[in-house]
Amino acid sequence: MSIVVNKAGDTFHLYNDEISYIMKVLPNEQMGQLYFGKKIRPKEDYSYLVETHMRPMSSCVFDTDKNFSMEYIRQEYGVFGTSDYRMPAVEVLQENGSRISDFRYCGYRIESGKPKLSGLPATYTEDASEAETLVVELKDPVSKMSLELFYTIFAEGGIIARSARFLNEGEQDLHLTSAMSLCMDLPDSEYDWLQFSGAWARERYLKTRRLQQGIQSVGSMRGNSSHNHNPFIILKRPTADEFQGEAIGFSLIYSGNFLAQAEVDTYDAARVLMGIHPSGFDWKLESGEEFQTPEAVMVYTDRGLNHLSQTYHKLYQKRLARGYWRDRERPILINNWEATYFDFTEERLVKIAKQAKESGIELFVLDDGWFGKRTNEKAGLGDWVANPERLKNGITGLAQRIEDLGMKFGLWFEPEMVNKDSDLYREYPDWIIQTPNRRTSHGRFQYVLDFSRKEVVDRIYEMMAKILSEAKVSYIKWDMNRSITECYSATLPADRQGEVYHRYILGVYDLYERLTSRFPEVLFESCSSGGGRFDPGMLYYAPQGWTSDDSDAVERIKIQYGTSYCYPISSMGSHVSVTPNHQINRNTPLYTRANVAYFGTFGYELDLSALTEEEQEEVKEQIKFMKQYRRLFQFGTFYRLQSPFEHNISAWMVVSEDKKTAIVGWHRVLNGINLPYTRLHLQGLDEDMLYSVSEDDAAHYGDELMHLGMITTDASSGQDEANMRQDYDSRLYILKAVEGGNLS
Ligand code: DGJ
Repeated sequence: MSIVVNKAGDTFHLYNDEISYIMKVLPNEQMGQLYFGKKIRPKEDYSYLVETHMRPMSSCVFDTDKNFSMEYIRQEYGVFGTSDYRMPAVEVLQENGSRISDFRYCGYRIESGKPKLSGLPATYTEDASEAETLVVELKDPVSKMSLELFYTIFAEGGIIARSARFLNEGEQDLHLTSAMSLCMDLPDSEYDWLQFSGAWARERYLKTRRLQQGIQSVGSMRGNSSHNHNPFIILKRPTADEFQGEAIGFSLIYSGNFLAQAEVDTYDAARVLMGIHPSGFDWKLESGEEFQTPEAVMVYTDRGLNHLSQTYHKLYQKRLARGYWRDRERPILINNWEATYFDFTEERLVKIAKQAKESGIELFVLDDGWFGKRTNEKAGLGDWVANPERLKNGITGLAQRIEDLGMKFGLWFEPEMVNKDSDLYREYPDWIIQTPNRRTSHGRFQYVLDFSRKEVVDRIYEMMAKILSEAKVSYIKWDMNRSITECYSATLPADRQGEVYHRYILGVYDLYERLTSRFPEVLFESCSSGGGRFDPGMLYYAPQGWTSDDSDAVERIKIQYGTSYCYPISSMGSHVSVTPNHQINRNTPLYTRANVAYFGTFGYELDLSALTEEEQEEVKEQIKFMKQYRRLFQFGTFYRLQSPFEHNISAWMVVSEDKKTAIVGWHRVLNGINLPYTRLHLQGLDEDMLYSVSEDDAAHYGDELMHLGMITTDASSGQDEANMRQDYDSRLYILKAVEGGNLS
């Protein structure tokens, strides 16, 4: 990895073994984007890449030049209003009402490693040799706003991490009304746009369309990154697929309002913008004040979407997630939500835990309903003190009883919320987000606490820290069950109300930071009515997240498959629940529920006594199996093989680092009869290694399994009683290197 500055001092080339990223100071002193893609050799001059052709109707920068227009020149951080008409990366409202900026190059610095982003989650290095950061320094001579553009290149992977920092060096007040984390002007628009969208219980479905002239975007203005759209998009060449071809990923490490957009201009160049959603955003910078944008991570590959995803997985698993649990196998848990909902007593919980312990489960998680007057969704949020009518010995007593069983104890919180029927609300009715003289909408009868206020965060921190320091709590599920409406903070002045959404998220991050640093061994799982805030920002604090409230195995195949485009398997909370499934009323076989849930953190969302004895024995076997292969599932290299968005049969697999073990998950939604011959082309194996394959007596070499395929034919279900299969079927194929079977 290296950052090369040419002799003239106006061209920067960041490269490693996989990628090159090149930019140049333009004649008008703004920064031009020249190239992001597969590695090319360093060279003194790439000026030929600045395309300055005469274009009728374009507005030109220099009096004497008819060819130089920002309208079509590709830039690093485009600004509106000085001949560029595309959506800008930044907009600064000045005291005279002007929104025009002209950020001119002033200098650069190179730092080894990667600087921290104050108050924000970001990727990091453990050793300075892992990455290098170029900081390009710019300044607008009129408003005196200075801008630093950060570019980190990692030694490994086609990754560029970007962010921007603003500093008001002038005397007047300035308002940032748009401040993107990245702007990327690509030279053409021959791309498919991939987004990960959906709704509650069907999060991160893959949706694809061809880029077209004009703007296409996804985003959130709900205060959380949302179920509806994920802060992640991919642009891939139309001919690229999972296994080959060019693609670029754009991922925002942020949990609040976001925008991800591509604008294809008149000349078919494509500008990608990603950052905090500018709608409703207005950040005031008084003289001497700074603003730091969240970080966006771009990944380039010419080896297909699996490789792109694996690059994100590795980076987010190892250099975004942090702490004690980052590299550790995650405990197999049982959560009481779908088992009891609000209807439980201490004795009922202990009974569930006891049986779970006998099955080999390691962690018991008490979900919603243990605190204040929370016996239904209308009361109690905000009162983080155990309800003595339900838990006579408090959380401390219950946690001890669970520990005495030989299990760990985990607890649910929804720290950002309050019900009006709560002591906290009665004491501080002005602590919620609400706009004066307007109706305040509720979601699930709850209101959002104003986390932009430090005293609010302090109070919640005190309540949570008290429980965590008194009771043996090893895990926290941090839920967030509604979006923000009527956004307004009682303590901010009128000209800072555009800061509330972002200040809110900074408050959430602050609480996470305080709790995770004071209780470093507690495992945090983020949640937002399932996957409503499943984003990289959360991963920095909570190495796993509840992927979706939909626990049906068939639904989960799509949800987990879609989620895997950006997020590692170790981050996906996945549980086995009862049938008929509580969300969709579907009956899937117990083995399929487990076969899907293994590809995640794994746990159970049920009362085991609701299962037959035979099923309980099956559960014991599942847990034994997961314990045996958990490291492989959670930390192996994951490959998508066949998409559930396109096929009745889908498949994925994990491969161990030494390639000696692999597990293939195969799922078929509807059964068929007298079916065709089928093979599955595996990935990531060692071509020369001989593998035994479960479900098959013979052994096969890696090259056979990958190139010729693994036979998966199941010809005559329904006619062949001995091999009768069913709907919602699944199989796991376990591949193991045969001792002495390596050809190389
Ligand atoms: C939504 C979560 O996604 C569920 O798992 C559960 O914790 C409920 N909230 C509890 O209210």
